[in-house]
Amino acid sequence: MQNQIYTPPEGPPQLSAPLLYEKISLDCLYEMAWIQYQALGTSRIADLFPLEEAELKAASEKQAEFLCGIMGGPKVYLVKHGPPRMRARHIPFAIDEAARQEWLRCFRLAFDQCGQLGLDKPDQLLLLNWIELFSAWMVNRAG
Ligand code: HEM
Repeated sequence: MQNQIYTPPEGPPQLSAPLLYEKISLDCLYEMAWIQYQALGTSRIADLFPLEEAELKAASEKQAEFLCGIMGGPKVYLVKHGPPRMRARHIPFAIDEAARQEWLRCFRLAFDQCGQLGLDKPDQLLLLNWIELFSAWMVNRAG
């Protein structure tokens, strides 16, 4: 039973801030994602992520490109990798609530190290609120 797929009852949450990207840049997102992924690489869920630095870096770039599109920027992820289907792409990895919390810890750490991307408080809260909801949508195992 432990490995059975769990689906949260709600659909994927949308980020209702279509112009957030105008206030930042793709380079900031690459930098933040790389900091996060390096933290993930030494976290309690490190076994989910590639060991090889080049692969870890490539994985972080995908995340930055996905976020860019979500924030109303160029759809780099879509062009390079096709429809996001994020929940489906995460299904091969066993993600429970504890894994989500560890992932969020690494995200917040990177967000803080990047000076909250220079966003003002309302935009910071918008993004953090969305990432919390969206990460819940990635949970696929009951913890
Ligand atoms: C809930 C906790 C999460 C965990 C444990 C997790 C874990 C993972 C893992 C293990 C991968 C595969 C890395 C690789 O080897 O390429 C991955 C890919 C990815 N994740 Fe997450 N993730 C989580 C949440 C999120 C969230 C909230 C986002 C959105 C910002 C996200 C965006 C991505 C993207 C864009 C990819 C690349 C998908 C692909 O093209 O294959 N993840 N994630």
